[in-house]
Amino acid sequence: MAKLLYVTCNLKPTELSCSLSVGKEFLDEYLRQNPADEVHFLDLYRDNIQRIDADVLSGWGKMRNGESFVSLTVDEQRKVGRIWKHADQFIAADKYAFVTPMFNLGFPAELKMYIDAVCVVGKTFAYTPTGPVGLLKDQGRKCLHIHSSGGFHFGKEEDHSVPYLKSIMGFMGIEDFKSIVVEGVDAIPDRAEEFRGAAVEKARNAAIQF
Ligand SMILES: Cc1cc2nc3c(=O)[nH]c(=O)nc-3n(C[C@H](O)[C@H](O)[C@H](O)COP(=O)(O)O)c2cc1C
Repeated sequence: MAKLLYVTCNLKPTELSCSLSVGKEFLDEYLRQNPADEVHFLDLYRDNIQRIDADVLSGWGKMRNGESFVSLTVDEQRKVGRIWKHADQFIAADKYAFVTPMFNLGFPAELKMYIDAVCVVGKTFAYTPTGPVGLLKDQGRKCLHIHSSGGFHFGKEEDHSVPYLKSIMGFMGIEDFKSIVVEGVDAIPDRAEEFRGAAVEKARNAAIQF
């Protein structure tokens, strides 16, 4: 039985969101194929992700200098503890689905905050003399990214969404990364449903193999 972490980052209801509606088709098919799997949902706008702030940085700094967790201030303990919880939940998953809209050539800031919370040295990656190593490698983990944009950016240098998520997953050792991109839904609104439909088809197929 695998654990799927299903991460969304969108304030729209599913029926008004291109990416969420494609994601839902993926998930429905995935659960048809894998009824015994566990799905953990994370809504990055509503689930109050701990950002890296002054308390987190000072807490980490103190622990790097040999101080124990219990010697940290109450705020440092609470916030560092929450970051670890995000990272531990991430580590406990076998599969990851990220469902995102494009915002300004990247993602909503909440996704970056989440990535900062799960990229934790000693938990998901380590520094070595020969460079950083992803600690989640060789464990058969896989990631699917479903992403929607109003215009056409995929494959161009300006795109800081899909290539970034692929890199940062690889940084933690998750090399099996696939993306389904719905582009141009605002640029060519007459064809938006056609573009979305093609992505739904891909998402259902991806779910069968995921
Ligand atoms: C704040 C904001 C920024 C956006 N920036 C871009 C952008 O840089 N490039 C683009 O192609 N579309 C951009 N869009 C359009 C959305 O990416 C597009 O409508 C997408 O389909 C939204 O996904 P959703 O329907 O799942 O919410 C932006 C939309 C918003 C609200």
